[in-house]
Amino acid sequence: MSKLLNGNEISLGTCYYPEHWDKSLWREDLERMQKVGIKTIRIAEFAWSKVEPTEGSFTYEFFDEFLDIADEMNMRVIMGTPTATPPAWLTSKYPDALNARKDGTLFRHGMRRHYNYNSENYKRLSSIIVEKFAKHYGKRKCVIGWQIDNEINCEIAEFYSESDDMAFNQFLQDKYKTLDALNDAWGTVFWNQTYTEWEQVHIPRTTVQGTVNPHQTLDYYRFISDSACKWVRMQADIIRKYKKEEDFVTTNGIFGHVDYQRMRDESLDFITYDSYPNFAYILDGYDKDDSSFRDRKWSRNLTETRAISPIFGIMEQQSGANGWNTGMAAPTPRPGQITLWTMQSIAHGADFISYFRWRTAIFGTEMYWHGILDYSGRDNRRLKEISDIYDKLGKISEVAGSTYVAKVAVLKDYDNIFDSELDVWHENVEEKSQDAIFKAAQRSHTPIDYVYLTESITEKDLLKYELLIYPHMTMVNESFLPILEEYVQDGGKLVIGCRSGYKDMEGKCTMDYLPGKLKSLTGNDIPEYTAISPDAGDVYIKWGKDEFKASSFADQLFACTSTAKVVGSYEDDYYEGFGAITENKLGNGYVYYYGSAFSEEAAFVFLKNLGVIDPFNEYFDIPDEMELAVREKNGDKYAFVLNYQRKVQNMWLKKELKELLSGSIETEEVIMQGYEVKIFKL
Ligand code: GAL
Repeated sequence: MSKLLNGNEISLGTCYYPEHWDKSLWREDLERMQKVGIKTIRIAEFAWSKVEPTEGSFTYEFFDEFLDIADEMNMRVIMGTPTATPPAWLTSKYPDALNARKDGTLFRHGMRRHYNYNSENYKRLSSIIVEKFAKHYGKRKCVIGWQIDNEINCEIAEFYSESDDMAFNQFLQDKYKTLDALNDAWGTVFWNQTYTEWEQVHIPRTTVQGTVNPHQTLDYYRFISDSACKWVRMQADIIRKYKKEEDFVTTNGIFGHVDYQRMRDESLDFITYDSYPNFAYILDGYDKDDSSFRDRKWSRNLTETRAISPIFGIMEQQSGANGWNTGMAAPTPRPGQITLWTMQSIAHGADFISYFRWRTAIFGTEMYWHGILDYSGRDNRRLKEISDIYDKLGKISEVAGSTYVAKVAVLKDYDNIFDSELDVWHENVEEKSQDAIFKAAQRSHTPIDYVYLTESITEKDLLKYELLIYPHMTMVNESFLPILEEYVQDGGKLVIGCRSGYKDMEGKCTMDYLPGKLKSLTGNDIPEYTAISPDAGDVYIKWGKDEFKASSFADQLFACTSTAKVVGSYEDDYYEGFGAITENKLGNGYVYYYGSAFSEEAAFVFLKNLGVIDPFNEYFDIPDEMELAVREKNGDKYAFVLNYQRKVQNMWLKKELKELLSGSIETEEVIMQGYEVKIFKL
């Protein structure tokens, strides 16, 4: 049985860099960790040269010496593969391993993630080092799992090396077979881009104003994801040959241009996330207007994480101030915030929390990225807080293995995500709506999931939810339509927002009436649409007794089947009186089409009118500044209430409930201290 995420405990870890410290500190460091309840460490993810100092010469002594101590002390170790930081001997001998800027300038040694996934030399040398790591260290008692690379696509999620150029060309030949097919898919007749030889076809390169054929860019993002998935797969396949059966394979972080559902299915036992809520307080990008959300926004990232693995780990949980010597400075977590953020992760489904990092580096780019201990290494307030967290985890061990409860899901798919990154019309509505839906759900205490539509999704996966919201299904993958239709026929409610159904899977606009392939689901027609003009003033929508502002866009809707009707209309501008919301009864369920982007108000009205808002209100009355998250196991529900504010706030219990951290029965008015978290058993 895996030592992590096995449903028995919620455990703590930390990131440790034996190569940064004198060996005389190792044993003492592990002892001090164990004293505060840290049982697991992640090591070695940047330490290639410690094992292969020059090409082809391997020496295992350094980590063997460290792992002997770990074995002896019953410490658990997650081994990283070191491919995020290729050694200097490698990049100088094989410059084809380097990633490049769009103009072809190579990224040089001195940072990390400067490599590309398609260099034959880098693939060969990486597979050798991964094999050496896995074969030599994989059977160690203390090793419990593997982290592949470090933060795939972090820092940079675009690749422009010669190797990528060649691999992209091959990717397209495999996909399209003929140049005619590629020319057609990319609409190359526009601006005379027609290709007559495969040699003319490239990754996006420097162009006038940086504008590249959108269909080419879409394929390029798919290609990056394909390359990243194959890269992780290559390493996972090697590790699986050597690891102990019970040991897991993971990677950390969620970044752009990666299909994580595919990566999980092909390569991972589960995903781990790196959670740094203090980015909300970063001094070089502080958002004063978002004062009520700040670190609470990390719940959105944790919702993304849960969409990959319902129970997951946090490989790096913030434990100190942020800062590189080049920027990203943020303050030290205030007393209580490490606990708050740890509980935020757990509330969303994390059963393993590993703090970044044990000691703060005294040199290098990250010397201001503080860990638990400061430079001197002496005991401090943050260490004490982690020790207290360990005590708290002892009181909530029954929560381990439970899963997050949501009756509402936001649907997503990677093709539309990639399209929204290259198309500002799509991006504009997508960003607004995602932010608004998340915030409306948070403030109204309506837990939501994100569900990615993939080839393997079934109707059963969807029927768990009473309401599905697909904010902007711009591109329509027809293979998902039968499942969505079945879901609605069987009683589900589906909301689809504006700008849906107008693109095919190559990103080209349909000549069909809108919403194109979605018509039979929505039962409506959109003869005209517009971006809301800056001189239109506020455009209101009325839906029954509710009135709220349209946002960004106005699809003008008509019901066009006997089962469909207009339920909400615009009240302003030249489309006053035209449909803004249609409802289509299909079987036992309903499809709603909403002609605008979601504002928080609009999202709130949908949650309310469709009967899914605040599902735990029989128990709680909670101010909207606090989050409610519920996990469930064997019929027992655990409700986390998190106060993100520094100030004391009150909440009310409508029933007597046991609070697990204090062990007491609470009722009626409950005082929540600044940053306090309470966990009630329902
Ligand atoms: C993460 C990364 C760590 C460390 C940390 C702080 O993104 O995985 O290695 O760099 O951020 O910057």
